[in-house]
Amino acid sequence: MEFDVITIFPQFFDSLFSFGILKRAQERGIIKINTHDLRNYTRDKRKSVDDRPYGGGGGMVFRPTPLARAIESIKNEDLKSVVILTTPQGEVFSDRIAKEVSEFEQIIIICGRYEGIDERIREKYVDREISIGDYVLSGGEYAASVVIDAISRFVTGVLGNKYSAYHDSFNESLLEHPQYTRPYVFRGKRAPRVLLSGNHKAIKKWKRLESLKRTLSRKPYLIDRSNLTFEEIKQLEMLIDKAPPRTKVYVALVHYPVYNKTFKKITTAFTNLDVHDMSRVCKTYGVKGFYLVQPVYEQQKLVEAVLNHWIKGPGSSFNPTRTDALRLVSIKSSIEEAIDQIEKQEGLKPKLVVTDARHRNSMIGYQELREKIQKGTEPYLILFGTGWGIVKEVLESADYVLKPIVGYTNYNHLPVRGAAAIVLDRLLSI
Ligand code: ADE
Repeated sequence: MEFDVITIFPQFFDSLFSFGILKRAQERGIIKINTHDLRNYTRDKRKSVDDRPYGGGGGMVFRPTPLARAIESIKNEDLKSVVILTTPQGEVFSDRIAKEVSEFEQIIIICGRYEGIDERIREKYVDREISIGDYVLSGGEYAASVVIDAISRFVTGVLGNKYSAYHDSFNESLLEHPQYTRPYVFRGKRAPRVLLSGNHKAIKKWKRLESLKRTLSRKPYLIDRSNLTFEEIKQLEMLIDKAPPRTKVYVALVHYPVYNKTFKKITTAFTNLDVHDMSRVCKTYGVKGFYLVQPVYEQQKLVEAVLNHWIKGPGSSFNPTRTDALRLVSIKSSIEEAIDQIEKQEGLKPKLVVTDARHRNSMIGYQELREKIQKGTEPYLILFGTGWGIVKEVLESADYVLKPIVGYTNYNHLPVRGAAAIVLDRLLSI
């Protein structure tokens, strides 16, 4: 495996790879890391590699000609090669990408700098653009060194045991279990006894369970990529069951005050399907309470009759899991009543989140709201409107208005229970 790094600071790499695993791998001829000074591919006296961007704007751009000359002279046509550009605009680097790239025999890395490189170099030569995270570094050399290290670990022979890289965190898509070494008791804390038992089967089981626990609590999204056995899935379900609720989220389906087609303030009627489906969605995502905001007395009685059928009547024996979901429902005459009840229960007024299908200024995005909710410190009440949406006054009084859900179309008419499922998945899924 050969790395060829094109940079204006070749000295940057001098000491980086001159110790540890990568030094040994180079000495044993398993990998070769060559640096190429981009200035050596210029033809002018000043050896200039950059120029001002066409169309103005700050900063400088790498000129295409030296880069093209460098790539063309470095590329070894006899080797299976790939050209990588390090840039914050690239795909975010991961173990999966490192593994994929490790299949190549020659890896040419262009270390981006300044405002970037001439677009025509990207188009003609670059196979893959890689970012090491959503932040801006002062140069692509930092990213290149990270990329080289992570890729090398997948090259056979670089790590003593050729399978080691596959056992580390992320490779099986779970985080590693905690590690312990001597002394057995450190400042009053013992290492887990099972690790000293000599019982390899029990040790293996402990490690896998701890790995699951750690992944679930720190990076639950990795579970989606993992290949769990049936037994592990059962363990995971038990862990989820035992874990205290992480979030304090409540949901309300608002029948009043909402708009009708002509933007008059109205009350809409109860819809059986919405109540069933939304309560099932709420139950799935660990929502603590689901309010139907409905001020009309006759409507309230109708909902009560339906709930009674499923909670106390024949529905409860016919379909007990439906009962579990519908138990989350309570009827409130106003949004304020729901807020008061949450405040009583949680000892804190909930943050009010309104969902709306229309774009407006200062809306909150899903990731940002998810991070706030997942801190688990404050309760949140998420309002879903019926009819033509929740009225302006409520939107203006909310702490957050959530961005509309958009697909790659301009069709924007999701059913409320569909929208609720998507929103809760984005905010509360594992
Ligand atoms: N160059 C500057 N910032 C970078 C980043 N985050 N990843 C890769 N290359 C970069």
